[in-house]
Amino acid sequence: MQRRLHSLVALVASALALASCSGVQPLMAPAGPEARTLAHLGWFVLITFCIVTVVMWGLIFWVAARRRGTLAEHEPWNAPNDKRWVAVGGFLIPAIILATIFVMTLRTLRAFPMGDAEMHMGEAAIVLTGHQWWWEVEYRLGATHEHVTTANEIHIPAGQPVDIELQTRDVIHSFWVPRLHGKVDLVPGITNRIRLQADDPGLFRGECAEYCGPQHAHMILLVQSDSPSDFDGWLAHQRQPAVAPASAEAERGQQVFMNSACELCHTVRGTSARGLVGPDLTHIGSRKGLAANAYPNTTAYLEAWVTHAQSLKPNAQMPNITAFTGEDLRALVTYLEGLQ
Ligand code: CUA
Repeated sequence: MQRRLHSLVALVASALALASCSGVQPLMAPAGPEARTLAHLGWFVLITFCIVTVVMWGLIFWVAARRRGTLAEHEPWNAPNDKRWVAVGGFLIPAIILATIFVMTLRTLRAFPMGDAEMHMGEAAIVLTGHQWWWEVEYRLGATHEHVTTANEIHIPAGQPVDIELQTRDVIHSFWVPRLHGKVDLVPGITNRIRLQADDPGLFRGECAEYCGPQHAHMILLVQSDSPSDFDGWLAHQRQPAVAPASAEAERGQQVFMNSACELCHTVRGTSARGLVGPDLTHIGSRKGLAANAYPNTTAYLEAWVTHAQSLKPNAQMPNITAFTGEDLRALVTYLEGLQ
């Protein structure tokens, strides 16, 4: 018995450890004004229903404890007293609770401006486009030539609202970063807008929240909130074209990249690679994850991703490129990691 208890405790402890290292994102711990508005409604609903549950179980136990004896000894079910219980407990109280929650939900919805007219603004700062199965992030800050495209990571300045347009290239996806904003769908042919704000610098994890195909669960979005000066520095860096290869090996890697199928699908600004099928790789080395953050951006995973993408993310558009082996592969990975 004791051993079973120990193994149960160990199981719970390991589950908690796993949850914490993969970054639990509790929506009841909001990190921005939009999420806070939702959390207020969430707490109200949660507490109300806890009270209702406790009262209901209390009544059930009370009835079970009081009503002993045979059915014949009871009053008829439609006695005036019973009717009052049904009218008040079955209709009046639920109606009041549900109406209150309905009104509070409508008020919460009004706190989320969805269209241009309501948001009183020009062009959004960021256009987020969903793909099967990754996120394209285009920054439209500054003049047209300063617009910049990256993938799977959104950087925002802490304490400042950022307007984001949501679009999709294929099927319906859904933006969801629990600690910053609720779910908003990316719908074909429709542009939705949200306003995103984080109180403090930090890293927040989001997921695609609408089933969009076999790799839906591997469509992870990171939101990095930086201090405003760090954000400006980051954006200025992203605007730079790719750095030139820093070593002979990286130079060889660049040749491998440019002489293969890579450049047909990916863009590396400042080079001849202008493909638009897959994510922009101009600064891939500076990103935290691979395959829409399904895997960490490490040398081993980068090698595995290039050669066996279909094992890591079956059905993704990235093919297995098993032609890359040995020194070519190492040089290619060195080149990609150097794209800081
Ligand atoms: Cu994209 Cu689910």
